[in-house]
Amino acid sequence: MSFITAFFYDRFMAKTEEACLKEWRHGLLKQVRGEVLEVGAGTGVNIKLYSDKVTKLVLTEPDKHMRKHLKEEADNSHLENISVTSGAAEQIEASDDSFDYVVTSLVCCSVTDLKACLREIRRVLRPGGSLVFLEHVAAADGTSRRRWQNLINPMWKIVMGNCHLNRETEQAIVTEGFDIIQIKRESMRKALPIVRPTIRGIAKKPNKRMQPDAATPRH
Ligand SMILES: C[S@@+](CC[C@H](N)C(=O)[O-])C[C@H]1O[C@@H](n2cnc3c(N)ncnc32)[C@H](O)[C@@H]1O
Repeated sequence: MSFITAFFYDRFMAKTEEACLKEWRHGLLKQVRGEVLEVGAGTGVNIKLYSDKVTKLVLTEPDKHMRKHLKEEADNSHLENISVTSGAAEQIEASDDSFDYVVTSLVCCSVTDLKACLREIRRVLRPGGSLVFLEHVAAADGTSRRRWQNLINPMWKIVMGNCHLNRETEQAIVTEGFDIIQIKRESMRKALPIVRPTIRGIAKKPNKRMQPDAATPRH
């Protein structure tokens, strides 16, 4: 993203935040606790919504202009254990099974490789840990909105920092081995019609199952 896009990002989003996003973010993030990673944290709009039950918050943001705003927000945060890194979601600098929650908001549309990003999120989550997502997604197949998304997407992603209009993120979350335990599909008010379809919810990394051999004692 350019310096100018990063500078105006919050102002550009302000009406949509007021109309729905603020409430959706709050509803999702109030349940988050423990050790948390947020990927593609942007200007840090989520930071103030995390409760004191978050014991560690790691924010990643690869874009240097967005990261500058993110660092300012992080420096003024109510949380004590908070850090900012520059990594991309496709290659997260963290050990396996190291977070209780991973948060993505309006990020899966923009990553270079959605599958790799979800695979990495799954890797760094502890078994039973949760991916909390809020994403704008493809409209249903066969609708005129989807046709418009498909038509405009090639130009849109060039202008809008690799944001894709027609990603099937819910399907990708399932394909990458998460169990979606909560999902809401709602129209993002005060947004352009082509970005209105959204999903938000929680997907769990399954707990490791005991192998039958390990469960049955041998005599
Ligand atoms: C639309 S903004 C959303 C920012 C913030 N998460 C929010 O909820 O407002 C998309 C963000 O994803 C970041 N991003 C793009 N590609 C990424 C990648 N491969 N890994 C992590 N973040 C990425 C962008 O730099 C940008 O900050």
